[in-house]
Amino acid sequence: MEIRDWCIRILSATTLEEKVLSPKILTDLTPGPAILWDTPSRPRGMEFQAYTKKDKLPPLQELHHPDKRAICLHRFAGHELLAVEVMAYALLAFPNAPKHFRKGLANTLREEQGHVQMYAKRLQELHVTFGELPLYRHFWAYTKTLLSPLEYVSVMSLTFEMANLDFAPLYRDIFLQYDDILSAQLMEQILQDEIQHVSFGMHWLNTMKPPSLSSWECWRHHCPLALPKQTAKGKLFQIEHRKKAGVPEDWIIQLSTK
Ligand SMILES: [Fe+2]
Ligand SMILES: [Fe+2]
Repeated sequence: MEIRDWCIRILSATTLEEKVLSPKILTDLTPGPAILWDTPSRPRGMEFQAYTKKDKLPPLQELHHPDKRAICLHRFAGHELLAVEVMAYALLAFPNAPKHFRKGLANTLREEQGHVQMYAKRLQELHVTFGELPLYRHFWAYTKTLLSPLEYVSVMSLTFEMANLDFAPLYRDIFLQYDDILSAQLMEQILQDEIQHVSFGMHWLNTMKPPSLSSWECWRHHCPLALPKQTAKGKLFQIEHRKKAGVPEDWIIQLSTK
């Protein structure tokens, strides 16, 4: 299947099966003209809902209760589905991006589809169906700011996925503390994949950035104002995971400060 057709199917899908459709062979022979997708179709009941303060995640000290853990896992599953859709958006929006960039992005998209399925399975084990709790627009709201692959890697890989280098191990450790080994293993798998996704973004930022800008300057320059640097980190700042992803030392120092 052509990458373009695959992404159109993902963004117009009305079933979860179609959202996670992953053809054995993907080709990129006719990327076609750019498409700037407005809003993805969603399975019934999984449409974007307005986010209010009452929708905040349960506090960490309440996660001894499986229902509260399921609320967190459901939110994370929602982020994975959004990642799938934002990556499909980028593949349709940037048909002229380097072939290797598109191939790497398509591979990342496949992994995000795998993450959706892993969370959906774990939720089922906790007696929750993916889609029965509210889902939000979140990452999708930034698609309008993605004017080139540089904005894509800055916003998606190097902000949202970067933050998961802190959040995934935080929740892994909390789940472990409450003896939920399966959920902890899932978070560990997400962390390992996320290190690769950040690494992908770092590589392409460095490849595509103007030589006059440092990596850090290029990242800040290509993030919208609505995304301050704090968005790219969690409460417990993980230096080692960033080093593994190839984040430069000066970037790590600048991000670690307030
Ligand atoms: Fe993911
Ligand atoms: Fe990711």
